[in-house]
Amino acid sequence: MAQETLSITDNRTGKQYEIPITSGTINATELRKIKEDPEDFGLMTYDPSFMNTASCRSSITYIDGDKGILRYRGYPIEQLADTCTYLEVAHLLFRNELPTAPQLTDWEGQIKQHSFIHKNIEQLIEGFRYDAHPMGIFISTVAALSTFYPQASKVLDPEVRRQQIRRLIGKVPTIAAFAFRHRLGMAYVYPEDDLGFIENFSSMMFKRGTKKFNPPQTLIRALDTLFILHADHEQNCSTSAMRGVGSSLVDPYSATAAAAAALYGPLHGGANEAVLRMLDQIGDVKNVPDFVKKVKAGEGKLMGFGHRVYKNFDPRATVIKRLADEVFEVTGKNPKLTIALELERIALEDEYFMSRKLYPNVDFYSGLIYQAMGFPVDIFPVLFAIPRTAGWLAHWQEMLIDPEQKIARPRQIYTGHDKRDFVPMNQRH
Ligand code: SDX
Repeated sequence: MAQETLSITDNRTGKQYEIPITSGTINATELRKIKEDPEDFGLMTYDPSFMNTASCRSSITYIDGDKGILRYRGYPIEQLADTCTYLEVAHLLFRNELPTAPQLTDWEGQIKQHSFIHKNIEQLIEGFRYDAHPMGIFISTVAALSTFYPQASKVLDPEVRRQQIRRLIGKVPTIAAFAFRHRLGMAYVYPEDDLGFIENFSSMMFKRGTKKFNPPQTLIRALDTLFILHADHEQNCSTSAMRGVGSSLVDPYSATAAAAAALYGPLHGGANEAVLRMLDQIGDVKNVPDFVKKVKAGEGKLMGFGHRVYKNFDPRATVIKRLADEVFEVTGKNPKLTIALELERIALEDEYFMSRKLYPNVDFYSGLIYQAMGFPVDIFPVLFAIPRTAGWLAHWQEMLIDPEQKIARPRQIYTGHDKRDFVPMNQRH
């Protein structure tokens, strides 16, 4: 039986080392034994942007990038998207099991209980310029919540963690909706007891006057499905930020704000907004070949394409593309769909994109649906942050109870000056 070890010979010294292999990895600290001189620090790994480094053990989400597999707690994303609600999936992410009917009713009630925000938080939102980007408002307001719940700093107390998780899941849709209404100069619409999670978010966003807001159930279901698809994605940039910031034992509101800040970037959750701006810039399907030529010449990226893990197809994009047809049945086809489909057709046949394994990701089609539903483009990253709050918090909780985890503090390769003495001002030039 082959040994699960790596035999290493250090040719500088001729010494041999046996490093255990566990779960397809070697423990990086084992390399510290490999020294040229006993006084040496020992070898480290060098992995800028963590292209090939596992930072933790996790049982929440499994991705196989080559096979296009995505599972939450073992359940295929396609099955969850077709049959569950977002809150049902959030329960699965936190509790490792799909809820029974009574458990789901109780969980939904707990979340709804926390859907209101303090008057002072409303006033904080009022303080932003009318044209402030909703993601800037979202990040700042989530961070501000930490000042309302000082007991949240007791992150090692399981009940304190559970309480903050319920508060954040319940409040982020309200914060998002209030940021949107502030932009329009419209009065806030408050959560209503007889509405579900998605219905309440839609009502807080779009309700006008006293008339009950009753969007078509197809759109409610589509938004619920989009929230499921965006709920978690293992160690992506924003979840890594959540784990890294949370490892200092800061409260979850500050850590969630940091994660949302990471998501805001155009290479990550800001890509759904960037896709629509790219489609607007292309303007007409006849301009697609010229745009693709510019991308291949290195003049910009095809936003919504490519992924660090998926090198075949993003299973979420497949579900979203199917969802688009259902939504456009109700809302009418988004005219930009023609441009998007032509971009996809050309890219999937073009050597430049194929050789780099660039396929549509979760952000390529989601914005077309959001826009058709009436959401403005710059709120798209906030629509990503709302459901991803569940994933961030599930990983935050898993990190805190993982005995192998400590404060995140990577090392570096120093490339700066050697020691040099201070130069008095009159001798500098
Ligand atoms: C999300 O990690 C996650 O799980 C994220 C996410 C989640 O659910 O949390 O899935 C959500 O963030 C999806 C990705 C959304 N971002 C975009 O759509 C922005 C456009 N895509 C890229 O910027 C890029 O593809 C990334 C950031 C998504 C992945 O980048 P990598 O893995 O670091 O790949 P790379 O930048 O090293 O690219 C490899 C090559 C390069 O070409 P060469 O230098 O080898 O010639 O592919 C090229 C890149 O220039 N390339 C692209 C491209 N993406 C990569 N060229 C044109 N258009 C693109 N979109």
